[in-house]
Amino acid sequence: MGDGMNKGGNTSTARETSRIPRHVAIIMDGNGRWAKARGLPRSAGHRAGVEAVRRAVRAAEGLGIEVLTLYAFSAENWSRPRKEVAFLFSLLRRFMHRNVAELHARNVRIRIIGEREGLDKDIVRLLDDCETLTAANTGLTLVFAFNYGGRQEIVAAARRLAEDVRAGRLNPEEIDADAFSRRLYAPDLPDPDLVIRTSNEQRLSNFLLWQAAYAEFVFVEEYWPDFTEETFKKALAEYAARERRFGGILDGGDAASASR
Ligand code: FPP
Repeated sequence: MGDGMNKGGNTSTARETSRIPRHVAIIMDGNGRWAKARGLPRSAGHRAGVEAVRRAVRAAEGLGIEVLTLYAFSAENWSRPRKEVAFLFSLLRRFMHRNVAELHARNVRIRIIGEREGLDKDIVRLLDDCETLTAANTGLTLVFAFNYGGRQEIVAAARRLAEDVRAGRLNPEEIDADAFSRRLYAPDLPDPDLVIRTSNEQRLSNFLLWQAAYAEFVFVEEYWPDFTEETFKKALAEYAARERRFGGILDGGDAASASR
């Protein structure tokens, strides 16, 4: 998380100048209900969800967002029927095959967070190839959370810390929030400033548990397949109207506001 780590009381961070979040993370929810409302199979909802992904990426590029993280497949999604899991995997494959060249041409850098273990070899290779191809790009960083779970990520980081201690590379006294952050899946990315969840559900669902410590949350009513640039802009407007204090107080805070 590096410079993205926001510590309580850091007034220079609290004194935000830009109202456009650097990092937006989205929990794309409601594909199934979108389909059901239309009398369609769930797969149709996921397919329409892919179109919403394409719209969201374009919107993020246009709005000047640095990092967009999309929750595409959670570690818990394995409990869905096998056919649906296979379908979601095939959508990811197809999305990458069909879009990576264009995203690369648009200077988008692709990253994947989540456990590679347990995924088919061909998917791992595909994800690695997309990351490698676009690694030097300097435009939007597009992160797919795939086979991702926040608790799993934290446990993996703890295991890495333990291994480093056992190997004599790290003293237990050196373990602090920064040491922990450096062992997460994508330590170089800033923490999300804004987490959006669609379909009016108000849960975090094991998404970016560590990184979202100081994120603002915006819950939008639309099912994910109905997510448009307008929805995105409305969420950003809500974010811009919020006061972010990171556990501190705002500038000009006087004794009265401090005692509140
Ligand atoms: C939630 O809807 C959505 C998902 C579990 C996966 C998100 C996947 C996509 C948007 C399509 C895949 C796209 C790419 C590029 C990988 P839900 O099925 O939980 O909806 P429900 O709560 O209404 O049942």
